[in-house]
Amino acid sequence: MLNPSQQEFSHLGSPRDLRARPLRDLRISILDRCNFRCSYCMPKESLCGKHSFLPADELLSDEEIERIVRAFTSVGATKIRLTGGEPLLRPGLPALVKRIAAISGVHDLSMTTNGVLLPRLAVDLADAGLDRITISLDSLDESVFSLMTGGKASARQVLEGIAAAEAAGFQQLKINCVVKRGTNDHTVMDMVRHFRGSGHVLRLIEYLDVGNSNDWQKGQVVAGHEWLRRIHHHWPLKPLKYQQIGETAQRYAFEDGEGEIGLINSITQPFCGYCSRARVTADGLLYTCLFASQGTALKPLLGKADGNTDLEALIHKTWSNRDDRYSETRHLVPGRDKGQEMYRMGG
Ligand code: GTP
Ligand code: 5AD
Ligand code: SF4
Ligand code: SF4
Repeated sequence: MLNPSQQEFSHLGSPRDLRARPLRDLRISILDRCNFRCSYCMPKESLCGKHSFLPADELLSDEEIERIVRAFTSVGATKIRLTGGEPLLRPGLPALVKRIAAISGVHDLSMTTNGVLLPRLAVDLADAGLDRITISLDSLDESVFSLMTGGKASARQVLEGIAAAEAAGFQQLKINCVVKRGTNDHTVMDMVRHFRGSGHVLRLIEYLDVGNSNDWQKGQVVAGHEWLRRIHHHWPLKPLKYQQIGETAQRYAFEDGEGEIGLINSITQPFCGYCSRARVTADGLLYTCLFASQGTALKPLLGKADGNTDLEALIHKTWSNRDDRYSETRHLVPGRDKGQEMYRMGG
């Protein structure tokens, strides 16, 4: 007898992991460096501000990234998201995007960015074939924004990035807002007001205990259902059906037609049961969970001219042996290693 998730997935043709979840999304970090120092990801204070970044010669080359993406599409992935660190800092990014967009198995090519370099790059990225952009913005209040992101840029610059993406033709941007109780929660309703009716989709993200440097405390998490109640009180909402199985956000439409909002409740309502995401770091380690502490090195196979079949077989095997569901079990083993840092894993 199939369980509900197996039934949902039964029409898909990719390898299944040990919990019957297909491999559908690849999130590939193309650089671990960032021009922000977000308190929830790469805090200035941790390691006295000294983060150890990968040396340039350990980063995957454009050709290697293309080969990895091709291999993932051969084993069933159709959605590719470029992440960082900050992906827009990678030199020659439009050319890399063009290479990936040309792969026939890539049906959806997206990027997560902090947005400040979009005024320089948005048009070239659109021309290169990038389909969608997600932009991080945690507050419209400059002092709160600065506290959240480490004081390296302003909310105004991110808004200029959003405007540049719109002007380049990107529609329905997703705006990611990580909420930390006591830091930016008092400015969230202003964000909701600002993005209602904008054509973009604000997503409120529960602060995650990912990595080992952000000093995460449970009391800093605001449960998504709390926002649902508060927002619904001001602007009535109705639930929307998911667009794709396994998506991170619960979606709600404003009843007055002013767009939609998403809640990513990874702490209070984990979504591991449908998680179809693989992650590759900028030095080519494959992780099957955002919180995994061990990755599988893909680079050794990239050196071989005829390594494509081996690469596909390794991805297939790694996915088939996957049993991760950290968010569902975090409460069972408090204090365990929370894996790689988010700026390596790519969010
Ligand atoms: P779409 O491709 O548009 O579906 O994007 P997405 O929502 O999968 O990706 P996005 O980068 O916008 O993810 C938003 C945030 O959700 C991330 O930055 C994480 O905080 C969180 N998130 C995404 N994927 C996972 C996941 O697999 N597990 C957990 N625990 N959190 C995730
Ligand atoms: N909790 C939740 N989301 C996080 N991100 C980074 N660190 C965290 C965290 N600790 C996400 C943000 C950002 C993306 C790049 O990574 O959503 O938009
Ligand atoms: Fe940079 Fe994104 Fe991490 Fe912030 S969350 S430090 S913008 S990689
Ligand atoms: Fe997927 Fe791991 Fe996140 Fe669960 S905790 S949704 S398995 S990445």
